[in-house]
Amino acid sequence: MKYLFTDFDSARIGKDKRAAVIEITGEKETETLRLSGGGKLIRIGIGKRDEMTRRKLLLLVRKITTLGKSAKAETLFLDCNDLSFSHLNIGDEELGSLVAQNMEMAVYEFTAYKHLPKEDRATLAAIAIKNASAAFKRGTAEGTTIGAAVNASRTLSNTPPSDMYPAAFAAAAVAAARRAGIRARVLGVPEMKKLKMGGVLAVGQGSARPPKFLVLEYFAGKKREQPIVLVGKGVTFDSGGIDLKPESGMNDMHMDMSGGAAVVQTLVAAARLKLKKNLVALVPMVENMPSGSSYRPHDVIRTMSGKTIEVLNTDAEGRVILADALTYAKRYQPRLVVDVATLTGAAMVALGLRASAVLSKDDIISRKFQDLGEKTGDHVWPLPLWEEYEEEIRGTVGDVANIAKTRYGGAITAAMFLYQFAKDYPWAHLDIAPRMTSVEGEYLAKGSAGAPVRLLVELCKTY
Ligand code: BES
Ligand code: ZN
Ligand code: ZN
Repeated sequence: MKYLFTDFDSARIGKDKRAAVIEITGEKETETLRLSGGGKLIRIGIGKRDEMTRRKLLLLVRKITTLGKSAKAETLFLDCNDLSFSHLNIGDEELGSLVAQNMEMAVYEFTAYKHLPKEDRATLAAIAIKNASAAFKRGTAEGTTIGAAVNASRTLSNTPPSDMYPAAFAAAAVAAARRAGIRARVLGVPEMKKLKMGGVLAVGQGSARPPKFLVLEYFAGKKREQPIVLVGKGVTFDSGGIDLKPESGMNDMHMDMSGGAAVVQTLVAAARLKLKKNLVALVPMVENMPSGSSYRPHDVIRTMSGKTIEVLNTDAEGRVILADALTYAKRYQPRLVVDVATLTGAAMVALGLRASAVLSKDDIISRKFQDLGEKTGDHVWPLPLWEEYEEEIRGTVGDVANIAKTRYGGAITAAMFLYQFAKDYPWAHLDIAPRMTSVEGEYLAKGSAGAPVRLLVELCKTY
């Protein structure tokens, strides 16, 4: 989307068929009017201005965009003052960034595999904004970059598994990273064998598509500064493996690499924003499939850490591949490791579809993530990680079992499993299964929601 900063006269614009003027009103109703000159007037009622909240503002920006899209406008005309709410204490630069992020997100559609009739094609290409300050303009540049990263992450996730298997995912990530000036490396099966990454190799062994391990390094910070390492689950399709999922459970499982897509695009955004930070992204990439060569229940896997995993359910595969990635992370002596994974249906049972779960041994870190969520719109909410849960995942034959003894608190026991491999550095786990796909009413295209790229970029900026 293009942002034009110009003054304009709403009356004159009404004569342009491709234009839509946005008017924010104090009413409750929203209406789109066709002006006599051919242009459109979109009147959006937001009720009392002093009842606006940060959450509602982000949705309002997306609503504006969505209505502009349905009006088939090419350019929207907007008054910056309409989006400024002094009681929200949002600075101009931040406002510009939030506006651009959410406009990019709302205008996005995944159309690569669809032949659209001409009348259904999106036309919206530009926003003309009046009364914008220099700071607001700077903000839109940042927001465009972040929004583009969110959308690129959604495209990686939305791409069907026939085209997004480990090697393809790795290639797409490497290409995106190198274009942004990030050092990128892909480990194949021989290298993983050398590193004794038994977890990634076991989960990947049932697929005709061999596993990969992606390493991105962006070192623009001080030489001595320890990096933040972002680890993303990269299961390009999760059939469940030998513990095959039922039909309904397999829905959307091509998006089980959403954590991986998010960390890749976070680094891309960080590089494009020229953040002076040291950042690493690690993504174990596998396809979890049933076959004669699959790993099976009661296999015992030796991981890179040396710890053994007793496999009790092949569908709890994310934690098995992440175990090796969390061990690999140690070599960077990180000041923080964050893993991001569509890890459990249980996180969705616990939180619904509005927030990802955050789990950490460090309450200050977990609190920090909640704040980042509120700030960016990528909401996260804490679940406990008490020692008592450790008992649940103790193995009988191996060191740790990959599922708990009861089905209760599945998001917690999954995190507790990961913690067994993350004890050597400050760590947080984000279970983004609840936010994998968009929900009705948030003005986002169906499919991947692009979480939590915005949160992670803000983390990299400010941590
Ligand atoms: N990828 C799934 C979790 C998931 C489910 C993500 C729905 C997004 C939407 C994960 O690998 C899985 O299958 N988890 C199991 C764990 C169980 C076997 C302990 C689950 O949640 O049922
Ligand atoms: Zn699974
Ligand atoms: Zn999975």
